[in-house]
Amino acid sequence: MKRSFISLLAAVSLLFLVGCGGDPQLSFMVGGAPNEIAYWESVVRQFEQESGIPVKIIRQTTDTDQRKQSIIMALRGRQSDPDVMLVDVAWIGQLAASDWLHPLDEYDIDVSNFFESVISLANIYDGNLIGVPLYVDGGLLYYRKDLLEKYGFDAPPQHWEELLEMALTVQENERHLNRNFWGYVWQGAQYEGLICNALEIFTSAGGGILDEQGNSIVSSPNTIKALEFMRSLIHEYMVSPPNTYTDMREEEVRMAFQAGNALFQRNWPYAWSLHNADDSKVQGKVGIAPLPFYPQHTSAATLGGWHAVISTFTDVPEQAAAFLRYITSYDVQKEMTLNLGWNPGRIDIYDDPQIMETLPHLVELKPVFENAVPRPIVPYYAEISQALQEHLNAALAGQTSPEDALKQADRAITAIISTYEQN
Ligand code: GLC
Repeated sequence: MKRSFISLLAAVSLLFLVGCGGDPQLSFMVGGAPNEIAYWESVVRQFEQESGIPVKIIRQTTDTDQRKQSIIMALRGRQSDPDVMLVDVAWIGQLAASDWLHPLDEYDIDVSNFFESVISLANIYDGNLIGVPLYVDGGLLYYRKDLLEKYGFDAPPQHWEELLEMALTVQENERHLNRNFWGYVWQGAQYEGLICNALEIFTSAGGGILDEQGNSIVSSPNTIKALEFMRSLIHEYMVSPPNTYTDMREEEVRMAFQAGNALFQRNWPYAWSLHNADDSKVQGKVGIAPLPFYPQHTSAATLGGWHAVISTFTDVPEQAAAFLRYITSYDVQKEMTLNLGWNPGRIDIYDDPQIMETLPHLVELKPVFENAVPRPIVPYYAEISQALQEHLNAALAGQTSPEDALKQADRAITAIISTYEQN
């Protein structure tokens, strides 16, 4: 019995080895919502037709933390696949510092038409170009134009206080018609998206995560005030649902808003085209604006976005570079913008007449992306994020006071920084 199991195992391993052999083939690892994967399939087909180079797509989920895990697993194992990947701006610092990103300088990749601030912040490592911003994300406030009008509000809120007031009024009245209606939905689950939401509110109150010298400022009075506000939305004013801190990630938030169950939503630009699709309950009823802020401060959007990179372990660097050039070309970036409503990393697309006509909001909101606030781009960002996720989420869940949570986060972050600095 045991012996036959062993021979079965040997046969399976042999099959696996044979299956892994053969000619090296270009592979592209990508995730996202179902419409995004479908879009990538069509881009890959076009590339194959135009270049004659076959591409294998390795599909991932939408969640950034899960996408990171599968990419790191492949890179740690020095696997030749995937050759090309999309990586979150949040983890590019760590990947570069681990020497997992192939320098692109020799491959004739012209980045002069891309957001300069993003390139210098995230794509140059040790003097080499190591990635190209495929699209740039920034947090935005989505609102129901029809409902603001119905209740006599003539513009979206500028300050957080106004958002709260509008959310309370509209929720109270709409609940008579829809028991599932909420004033404001946003990403509060324990994952990277929570950090993005928190950084926006913190910054718009004069607080933040690290100061310019790289020291923790997470327990400053302004940051505490901002976290208290986030928590009060759920527990005190109850305009955000109790599952905000357990379930709410981008897609859960988008679906709640798209089902007609919320007045305001914090999300990235990708939600726009889905809200306006034919199967959406809120088609034509949605507006977008910069996120609110505290008086005497300014609105802040977290800099998000995904970058096209090539793995150090690629076995087909020339083909990988050809694919990277293709997906960052004018035509493909334009098509991506029209199809998915993503904000392209290329700035020349914002002046394209067709884009200006079909997506005027995107052109108008360009300053939001130019001035977006980055998360710390340091090799140990993953540890900082992990510590913050835990403490912020505990405060939102009501397990710790915002002040205690932030003091604990401050101690943890300071310890992480000093450990890295000693090494
Ligand atoms: C979006 C952003 C990315 C961010 C993630 C958080 O995908 O582009 O930068 O880390 O959301 O969930």
